[in-house]
Amino acid sequence: MPSPYILVLYYSRHGATAEMARHIAKGVERAGLEAKIRTVPAVSTQVEAVTPAVPEQGAVYATYDDLKNCAGLALGSPTRFGNMAAPMKYFLDGTINLWLTGELVNKPAGVFTSTSSLHGGQESTLLSMMLPLMHHGMLICGLPYSEAALTQTQAGGTPYGPSHLAGPNSDRALDEYEIQLCVALGKRLAEFAKKLEQ
Ligand SMILES: Cc1cc2nc3c(=O)[nH]c(=O)nc-3n(C[C@H](O)[C@H](O)[C@H](O)COP(=O)(O)O)c2cc1C
Repeated sequence: MPSPYILVLYYSRHGATAEMARHIAKGVERAGLEAKIRTVPAVSTQVEAVTPAVPEQGAVYATYDDLKNCAGLALGSPTRFGNMAAPMKYFLDGTINLWLTGELVNKPAGVFTSTSSLHGGQESTLLSMMLPLMHHGMLICGLPYSEAALTQTQAGGTPYGPSHLAGPNSDRALDEYEIQLCVALGKRLAEFAKKLEQ
């Protein structure tokens, strides 16, 4: 029996969501579970376009088995027009067999995002990312206000999940509160996953 892990699955173009994923993975590991960080390929309007089997940078691509076998899931995407990016939606649209067989039912899941503007749709992205996970029967895990960073942050961080303000040039680094909330989500997912597997 393979050891349980939390799948930290993200899409990132400029690296901010990828950085959030690494902090979430730290939280998972601090709570004593393995974190498996995976990404998804970009999609293209050119139907003949193909991506290399191994990405040039960042995590390797997720397989549907990575998702099927996880004990919990952290799902991250940059905000695109107030919603998740197409590559993540495309990956999720391919999970119909997991839905038919109920593989993800009762597994804990959380969501995270990065935006360039503070009121540019962090909450709408996070809430809409929860929808397919709820159809899969996953247990949605947000962030409680007992996390002090939620009230201290001047940038990203929501009760719906960690978020990050990248700024107009998409180059603002994660600040201490945004990092704390990423770590908190990872820990929370790992702790719930351990309890649910007992
Ligand atoms: C097509 C497109 C749509 C975007 N839509 C939004 C948006 O609705 N609100 C916002 O604040 N930022 C928006 N952005 C900016 C990204 O969310 C932001 O740059 C984010 O930090 C990128 O994350 P990444 O570094 O993981 O790629 C958009 C960017 C692109 C390319």
